[in-house]
Amino acid sequence: MSDALPVYTGPERILSGMQPTGGLHIGNYLGALKHWVRLQEGKADCFYCVVDMHAITVAHDPADLPGRVRAAAAAYLAAGVDPSRSAVFAQSAVPAHAELAWIFQCVARLGWLERMTQFKDKAGKDAERASVGLFTYPVLQAADILIYKATHVPVGEDQKQHLELSRDIAARFNRDFGAGEAVLPLPEPVIPPSGAGARIMSLKDGTAKMSKSDPSDNSRINLNDDADTIARKIKKAKTDAEPLPASTAELDARPEARNLVGLYAALTGVSAQAVLDDHAGQGFGAFTPKLAEIAVEFIAPIAGEYARLIADPAEIDRILTSGAERARAAAEPVIAQVRGLVGYWKG
Ligand code: AMP
Ligand code: TRP
Repeated sequence: MSDALPVYTGPERILSGMQPTGGLHIGNYLGALKHWVRLQEGKADCFYCVVDMHAITVAHDPADLPGRVRAAAAAYLAAGVDPSRSAVFAQSAVPAHAELAWIFQCVARLGWLERMTQFKDKAGKDAERASVGLFTYPVLQAADILIYKATHVPVGEDQKQHLELSRDIAARFNRDFGAGEAVLPLPEPVIPPSGAGARIMSLKDGTAKMSKSDPSDNSRINLNDDADTIARKIKKAKTDAEPLPASTAELDARPEARNLVGLYAALTGVSAQAVLDDHAGQGFGAFTPKLAEIAVEFIAPIAGEYARLIADPAEIDRILTSGAERARAAAEPVIAQVRGLVGYWKG
């Protein structure tokens, strides 16, 4: 059946985005940013946006938002996103995202959104009081992607469900309005293999995702933490009393041990099994200082570059302005095509 569907034949495009919510952490880097940087090496055009429109789905201070956008953009650049190759911009600077999101709200079905686990997590017990925007958040995310006809979306594992929704929206749009043409590609998530940074857990609880919204700063390693802070956080990380086992299967019931081994593996670019081959039998008293040293060395150049960039806001603003111009130019023909397909008035 799927063989009969038209196949998108346009160019490859990369898009991803992050919310400007405080500083970024090592999970954001290993799960997503690292792959944004890697994907710049190919021929595809890359679009990396700071999703400030998603940021207003929850209460926010308008006076802080521009500074948060600048800080997120600085983190992208510090991680290695190259503004001469990739468009780096604020989502709100390209109104076509919002315009396409409205059309997609009329394509997506209520039942599809009701299944989204991130909404349930973010809205908590009192979902009735959540903003409508928080509920339709993944529809805007689909618009972010498809306004550039992006084919590949580098994200951490937690975004898998939102990417599936984007694919459903694209397929439904093509079916309802494409007249047999695959106008919109079905975007592919680019998710690191599990164990290689797809899901870094909190340093305080190996069963909870490392997250910007965790009230404890000790739960995460931020991309702008200094060496002493990183070393202290890792040395104080939750562990268990057992020595490291010989095989990864034995880590299954030990979430904290599994997370620290996974972090070591992701930072050094080897498999978790290779880390165990070198450290089996050692206790955390020996393992965590080594991990701390590796993390400090890993973060230092990123933190240094972030500090340099954030001290020059005019340079970041210039990059965001030129990125937005490129993004608007790429979005323009797509929104024009979509407007025509849905039958909007031409005048
Ligand atoms: P967020 O911090 O939720 O705005 O996520 C920004 C990007 O980082 C998304 O692609 C997430 O999937 C990814 N990400 C966030 N937290 C983690 C984590 N703990 N491990 C791996 N990837 C993550
Ligand atoms: N929802 C994503 C997150 O929480 C952020 C995001 C918004 C995004 N729009 C996107 C990610 C488009 C990839 C593509 O991390």
